[in-house]
Amino acid sequence: MSDKLFVFDTTLRDGEQSPGASMTKDEKVRIAKMLEKMHVDVIEAGFPIASVGDFEAVKAVADTIKDSTICGLARALDKDIDRAGEALKGANSSRIHTFIATSPIHMEQKLRMSPDQVVEQAIYAVKRARQYTDNVEFSAEDAGRSDIDFLCRIFEAAIEAGATTLNVPDTVGYNLPEQFGETVRLLREKMPNSDKAIFSVHCHNDLGLAVANSLAAVANGARQVECTINGLGERAGNAALEEVVMAVKTRKDLFSCYTDIDTTQIVPASRLVASITGFPVQPNKAIVGANAFAHESGIHQDGVLKARETYEIMSAEDVGWSANRMVMGKHSGRNAFRSRMSELDIEFESEEALNEAFTRFKELADKKHEIFDEDLQALMTNANNEMAVDEQIKLVSLKVCSETGETPHAVVTMTCDGKECTGEAEGGGPVDAALRAIDSIIKSETELLLYSVNNITSGTDSQGEVTVRLEKAGRIVNGQGADTDIVIASAKAFINAVNKMLLPEDRFKPQGSDV
Ligand code: KIV
Ligand code: ZN
Repeated sequence: MSDKLFVFDTTLRDGEQSPGASMTKDEKVRIAKMLEKMHVDVIEAGFPIASVGDFEAVKAVADTIKDSTICGLARALDKDIDRAGEALKGANSSRIHTFIATSPIHMEQKLRMSPDQVVEQAIYAVKRARQYTDNVEFSAEDAGRSDIDFLCRIFEAAIEAGATTLNVPDTVGYNLPEQFGETVRLLREKMPNSDKAIFSVHCHNDLGLAVANSLAAVANGARQVECTINGLGERAGNAALEEVVMAVKTRKDLFSCYTDIDTTQIVPASRLVASITGFPVQPNKAIVGANAFAHESGIHQDGVLKARETYEIMSAEDVGWSANRMVMGKHSGRNAFRSRMSELDIEFESEEALNEAFTRFKELADKKHEIFDEDLQALMTNANNEMAVDEQIKLVSLKVCSETGETPHAVVTMTCDGKECTGEAEGGGPVDAALRAIDSIIKSETELLLYSVNNITSGTDSQGEVTVRLEKAGRIVNGQGADTDIVIASAKAFINAVNKMLLPEDRFKPQGSDV
């Protein structure tokens, strides 16, 4: 008999804890809608006590999403749990996820609490969370380095206090698959009330084993996996949702469980998260990397043409790589544009918003022959990025001269709070010159932590999507820009990041910074 494996997505919470991946409220709602469409069971929308921005984002997700359970994270503290309860009030189905550390090092060095005190606190927290919802998850932080008998004790107590899901996090990504599977097996065997809750796992990828550890736990009876799109997350990230889901689906001969995920939404979700966070997907990444289904060698190509199964264990279409992705061009009309956008789940709030997007589309179609779904998504991400920051600084024009043997030189005109200003600079290359020219006007005093360019589609007329990560006084923000001209895309990305820097800190505050 096959059990359901619950998929708990924490892209909006643990994923957001990657430096520079913080998302605005609207971006979180967009991703949450995508996760709902994918049939994710539980969406962890954030850590409401962390900041006002995080509270509001969790609330907005809870108020919008109808089909998935919305979860808020809370330490085992009154103020955290009350804040999570408040943020989740509007949800159709809500969960509070409360946690406390259980490993000797965390209890002694971080919490400075005795094991007895930790158990008491856990019981108290679960009972308090139950006052807001009957769906309470309890996590033993750093369970991967905790004593198994202590884990049994605290989990038994958490069930008695009302927890319905027990989460076993490998917080520091220290475990190996066999060992981690064994932990889940022992917990289920040793705890007398283990059948009263669902066992969940939450694995970090420090040794590159997050997915392997999660699957080992599933093989030993875990029935919820916590994961993120593209494996985004703290340090080396969390278990990648797409890999866990496709492993369970592809090897159903070995797993006695199934997920309800609509796998055809995997690639669109991956793209959306990459473009919103500015964390590109490596080409050889399993399932969602550009090369994941590309066969280069002649022997492989020949085999696949004769029988796909010779070299492919899954079909590209099954995870959302569509066979024919060319959708529109210069002659496409407004209605065709609206209907294709609607198929991509992009709706317009007003005719004015549609007209604005259509104008951008026409401008792009003038420069680029074939417009793919990815181009349309980037177009909207760009527009949303600009709107999200209320654009105090706007690019008016940019001219860059770059010639063999000459130093590149850029002249830029921008409006800063409505006032037009022009600046110029030289640089090591055209991008460097353009960014220096912009900074000669705005004097951002930021440090550039990351600059990356990715082509959105193939071909030399592809749009380049640029991500710029800036730091100023410990605050990190990402900016994105897309254009068929990568120097302009770079300028847009830099200006987008600077505009974010100018917003009140709370709008883009990384989680945990208040707590
Ligand atoms: O990694 C971790 O331990 C966590 C917990 C809050 C579940 O993210
Ligand atoms: Zn985590």
